[in-house]
Amino acid sequence: MEWGQPKSKITLLLFATSCGVDMPAADYQLTKLLGLRPSIKRFVMYQHGCYGGGSVHRMVKDLVENNKGARVLVVCSELSSVVSFHGPDETNIDNLVAQALFSDGAAAMIVGSDPLLDVGKLLFEIISASQTIVPESESVLDGHLREAGLIFHINDKIPKLVSKNIGTMLKEAFQPFDIMDWNSIFWVVHPGSPAILNEVEEKLALRPDKLRASRRVLNEYGNMWGATVLFILNKMQRSSDTFCLETTREGLEWSVLFGIGPGLTVETVVL
Ligand SMILES: CC(C)(COP(=O)(O)OP(=O)(O)OC[C@H]1O[C@@H](n2cnc3c(N)ncnc32)[C@H](O)[C@@H]1OP(=O)(O)O)[C@@H](O)C(=O)NCCC(=O)NCCS
Repeated sequence: MEWGQPKSKITLLLFATSCGVDMPAADYQLTKLLGLRPSIKRFVMYQHGCYGGGSVHRMVKDLVENNKGARVLVVCSELSSVVSFHGPDETNIDNLVAQALFSDGAAAMIVGSDPLLDVGKLLFEIISASQTIVPESESVLDGHLREAGLIFHINDKIPKLVSKNIGTMLKEAFQPFDIMDWNSIFWVVHPGSPAILNEVEEKLALRPDKLRASRRVLNEYGNMWGATVLFILNKMQRSSDTFCLETTREGLEWSVLFGIGPGLTVETVVL
């Protein structure tokens, strides 16, 4: 939500990153940096990689629904250039692919239950959230911390694996709401690579405008792991405002947000 309230009203900090191992962790540093209350509840989610932006939606939904009056500051912050930058190595092309795609970025949002609509503006509502492992995807995307830093394995089968299974995930997520027209909703897909977006678009016969926000963020900022989908939400909200659309969701009512990352793991969030 566009919140408009003092930071002293934040009750919990949810910090997600796949970069860095520090004690105390980045949640502690950010609490100090922002001057949040020392008694604020803090929670860190590590190593979700590119699906982290979906995971925070799933986690924060549970947190706010089970803590009356909660106002959670959700932060996704990734510094892939620090943990996974390597010189070129002919024996590991995957690392080169990773470096070509990955970039740094940080984004934040406030999520709460029982919104106070006289002081804030509701932007999106998290309706449902689920996580699954893509069948037969073991070892296609993983990263391991070695002496040289984070070493990636990125298989070129990933775009096809994602597009083959995404229809099933959509059907499961939208069945309760009787929605089956994928062009009738707005789309926030973690843009792992242009090839992944192309495959998804083709498989589901999506109109070219459906993945526009995801493509633009990939084009302008790169794949910032967990932070990327928050950038896409922001871009979508701003363009909806610019064109005075009825909702912050390109004028539409329902949306799907996909986080896609190591495992392969997919987070499906209905907004
Ligand atoms: C890297 C990628 C974008 C290239 O897609 P593309 O531009 O459509 O190009 P292609 O798939 O035709 O690949 C070009 C060539 O690179 C090769 N290639 C791609 N990834 C490779 C890898 N990790 N190691 C070795 N070769 C690789 C392909 O086999 C192909 O070789 P060929 O020309 O001899 O057939 C695509 O393979 C991809 O999306 N990979 C997964 C990206 C990913 O996982 N992102 C993070 C997920 S969150």
